Amino acid sequence: MAILPILIAPDRRLKKVSTAVTAVDDDVRRLMEDMLETMYAAPGIGLSAPQVGRLQRVIVADVARHDEEPQPVRMANPEIIGTSDEMLTYDEGCLSLPEHYAEIDRPDRVRISYIDHSNCRREEDFHGIMATCLQHEIDHLDGILFVDHLSAVRRGIILRKLKKEKRARASKVGAHA
Ligand code: NI
Repeated sequence: MAILPILIAPDRRLKKVSTAVTAVDDDVRRLMEDMLETMYAAPGIGLSAPQVGRLQRVIVADVARHDEEPQPVRMANPEIIGTSDEMLTYDEGCLSLPEHYAEIDRPDRVRISYIDHSNCRREEDFHGIMATCLQHEIDHLDGILFVDHLSAVRRGIILRKLKKEKRARASKVGAHA
């Protein structure tokens, strides 16, 4: 397994639509394991393949608390096939938008069709934080970031700050070179 570098917004690759995988084979399984290791190391509760520069419809998540056994979820080609009318508001963050958070409303329950790590098609219901997390990760596969659910003004403020921080980091690296 390997820890992969995570793309930080704004980055054109984070705005692309990812491609479906044809099958969950050894390559996709390796990607899933690398993504889980990267996510745990960050640490985060979810990660999508485009965030590590792979434009494939693959996501991983684990919302278990630190005192619980890990409960890793691996999905390829996930699709939301049902949602509740009941909504949940959660203060979302993203490993590609470090240190920025915003309250986002999403359906509290979702039914998701996906291909699991043994290449079997499954349908499963999720609720609460896991439902929020999976909707956030599936958004990434369509080039949608959590800030895209905010007003243009709030999104602009966050993206400008990230751009400035990125530039500051780049010049620091340059100074040490
Ligand atoms: Ni994210």
